[in-house]
Amino acid sequence: MPGTDSIERIGVLTGGGDCPGINAVIRAVVKTGLLDYGLEAVGILDGFEGLVSNKMVELDYEDVSGILTQGGTILGTSNSAHPFEYVPVGEDEREPEDRSDDCVRHFEEAGLDVLFCIGGDGTLSIAHRLAAKGIPIVGVPKTIDNDIVGTDVTFGFDTAVQIIAEAIDRLHTTAMSHHRAMVIETMGRYAGWLALVGGMAGGGDVIVIPEIDYDMEIICEAVRERSRIGKRFSIVVVSEGVKRPKGGYVVRDRVERGHEKIRLGGIGVWMAAEIEERTSLESRAVVLGHIQRGGTPTARDRVLATRFGQAAVVQAAGRNFDVMVGLQGAEIVPVSLEGVADQQRLVQPDCQLVRAARSVGTCFGDRPVR
Ligand code: F6P
Repeated sequence: MPGTDSIERIGVLTGGGDCPGINAVIRAVVKTGLLDYGLEAVGILDGFEGLVSNKMVELDYEDVSGILTQGGTILGTSNSAHPFEYVPVGEDEREPEDRSDDCVRHFEEAGLDVLFCIGGDGTLSIAHRLAAKGIPIVGVPKTIDNDIVGTDVTFGFDTAVQIIAEAIDRLHTTAMSHHRAMVIETMGRYAGWLALVGGMAGGGDVIVIPEIDYDMEIICEAVRERSRIGKRFSIVVVSEGVKRPKGGYVVRDRVERGHEKIRLGGIGVWMAAEIEERTSLESRAVVLGHIQRGGTPTARDRVLATRFGQAAVVQAAGRNFDVMVGLQGAEIVPVSLEGVADQQRLVQPDCQLVRAARSVGTCFGDRPVR
């Protein structure tokens, strides 16, 4: 058995929005800890909420057995609990408080030697700040948005792309039958990965992402051109983080608590109305929403999540903290959280993916230089 140099008890939490594959990571962390290193494991409930308010459970082999394929997270999560700006649930009018010292105290009282934080950029940024307060942290990059720097891909993304592609397939047949423009809005916050890759997989005629400036007239011209050549329907895939030409983001909600102060949503409805008005083609909008985060992970995500979980424990055993594990090429490597916190990995407008889509006639709402 490899030596762990004093690591005996590990804690694991899942923060931010859930996504398929989290349970596979929890399983891999706990099983690797138990089987390879003889470690005890503790689950912190509901993300950082559980660390602030000391809600923890022991995790044994049986607790993580059979969860590889389950969506969601057995530990619960929160995308609004922020230890450094903590506002209790349901008390939004309260002034935020710094409860990070409570997190350190609860971590120590539980006898933990390392905290695995499975989360997106919000969770990993908080984790990095907790590392500065002395908690040995290893992060695992989780989000359907695929926007975390230091890793080629996050787990959950592949499943969400699969869901988007399937949704587009279904919307294709109804768009075709009714001769409509169907606008499909994906999640992804300020990054266009989900719309780009999901849209390509579904054969979207137009893909609109935050990283490429668009002109509504160019989009409408692409729709009209399809009608002219006898294709009396169009599939338009738009990312929730796309701004209106005037008026900025379409905001679904504003929130007091947590890392993200706005929730995006609704650009698809606006775009469908614009297309209908400008082209006279009947249009409908479908906001895919949280369906993209639900259900069982794809085989690829199950394997990636397992690799991430195992690699995270290996980093902890080597006492390499304040890092996350990332996939770079074919290898899982440690990546300093310093360079990950508060960063976003966006689509490069001239990347190979975009070029491939353009080559098969996909319109991005701009006039590309050929
Ligand atoms: O970050 C993941 C994500 O699903 C985003 O794509 C989306 O904007 C956001 O979370 C939605 O958050 P909530 O679950 O709070 O509505």
